[in-house]
Amino acid sequence: MAVFLGIDIGTSGTKTLVVNEQGEILAEANQGYPLYHPRPLWSEQDPEDWWQAVIQTVRKATAAAQVRPADVKAIGLSGQMHGSVFLDKRGRVIRRAILWNDQRTAAECRELEELAGGRKQLIRMTANPALTGFTAPKILWLRNHEPKNFERTAKILLPKDEIRRRLTGECATDVSDASGMLLLDVRRRRWSKPLLEKLQLDESLLARCVESEEVTGTLTPQAAELLGLTTDCLVVGGAGDCAANGIGTGVVRQGILSTSLGTSGVVFVHCDQVQIDPEGRLHTFCHAVHGKWHMMGVSLTAGGALQWFVERLCAELGEKVYEVLTAEAQQVPAGSEGLFFLPYLAGERTPHADPLARGCFVGLTLKHGRGHLARAVMEGVAYALRDSLEIIRSLGVPVRQIRASGGGARNPLWRQIQASMFGQKVVTINAEQGPAYGVALLAAVGAGYYKNVEEACAATIRVVSETKPHRPSIATYDKGFPVFQELYRALKPLFRSIDAL
Ligand code: XUL
Repeated sequence: MAVFLGIDIGTSGTKTLVVNEQGEILAEANQGYPLYHPRPLWSEQDPEDWWQAVIQTVRKATAAAQVRPADVKAIGLSGQMHGSVFLDKRGRVIRRAILWNDQRTAAECRELEELAGGRKQLIRMTANPALTGFTAPKILWLRNHEPKNFERTAKILLPKDEIRRRLTGECATDVSDASGMLLLDVRRRRWSKPLLEKLQLDESLLARCVESEEVTGTLTPQAAELLGLTTDCLVVGGAGDCAANGIGTGVVRQGILSTSLGTSGVVFVHCDQVQIDPEGRLHTFCHAVHGKWHMMGVSLTAGGALQWFVERLCAELGEKVYEVLTAEAQQVPAGSEGLFFLPYLAGERTPHADPLARGCFVGLTLKHGRGHLARAVMEGVAYALRDSLEIIRSLGVPVRQIRASGGGARNPLWRQIQASMFGQKVVTINAEQGPAYGVALLAAVGAGYYKNVEEACAATIRVVSETKPHRPSIATYDKGFPVFQELYRALKPLFRSIDAL
């Protein structure tokens, strides 16, 4: 028997899946860990917590699947992108990792663009502008604010790659995750020497960079012992969680786009050729499909906005809160009778790159009730996804099929809202485990059980449902979209005033 592990080191926890050669999930295990906010807008985690979660979930999942150690042929790693693990020359973690949702680096983003010779030049070198969440600004922050820690730093790894180091002893990363460091020449799929020079960063600080299905090593005897596996078990490059989700949802061909509603919302499209948004609103990263790319837009609070609404304002509804709210929202017509919601509860990334943006309900009247608010939240998130989708369409990237994924895709009303918002049918697929599933497939490819990623996806992933847009709602959302966009523009100066209070 041959099985593969997909391990996703997420922000709220780690998930491990055991997947067999046919792509069937045999078992799953999850373990959470704390998220630290030592100051407002800061977000950190302890790599040791990830490691313990990896050990526990691998042990639990392999036990539940009743597989023998030698059955586990390969591991694929996925993880939260952009996080920085700073290591000294003896491989000790210097400080807690600074995460993707940390907003401390606004000044370093400006510094970085200046050192690079301007924003345009930076986009030319890395395909992307400097954003507070990306890794390179975090490195400059360490140099500026914790110079002693910076001097001690010998290696900087992404979250999943720190786990790879503990598993195999190898410092390696894959092109999709490396793209989010803002130090990669995304077009050529290798570190940007000119940029590293301009930033005065030594390439030896970075890991070796490979394609996602490439084997990066095998388990060390120590790791094999801790996980209950063998030293023959391979570890493949893997992918950042967005590209891994792209594989796990079969977005591996031109024309397929996915929307994913987790805490954040991601619009993700496969590109055969590298394509760059000259204005830098969308990210262009290497895909986990060999030699291909993807573009994506990230809304920082998507499923997180509905969760906020449920937990903070509707807790009294008890366990069935999502069903009750969805039923109430269903009674409300599309457009929520003039009520808009801006989902910028933690600032916004795409398209505004604005850490000071805030969440708002606009247009409240005495007529509006709880169902309107719930629907407006779902519509506000869908409008935010449309912001990214429209940029993708305007760049001429073909979008023939939209796949809805993530927790939010399980809500039929939210799928209906998405289809009408995008004016295009939305489909769902059989695979619901996203990133962990994607990297289990990459592991199977790396171990030679499939010829390539496209073949692995074709063999395992299929469309299971279709939601058609509702014609009158399309018209409502087409009229509402420019209003939604204008609301941000109008409120932007006031978000600054609020911040300065
Ligand atoms: C992607 C991003 C997030 C994290 C979350 O650019 O910042 O999706 O990867 O895990």
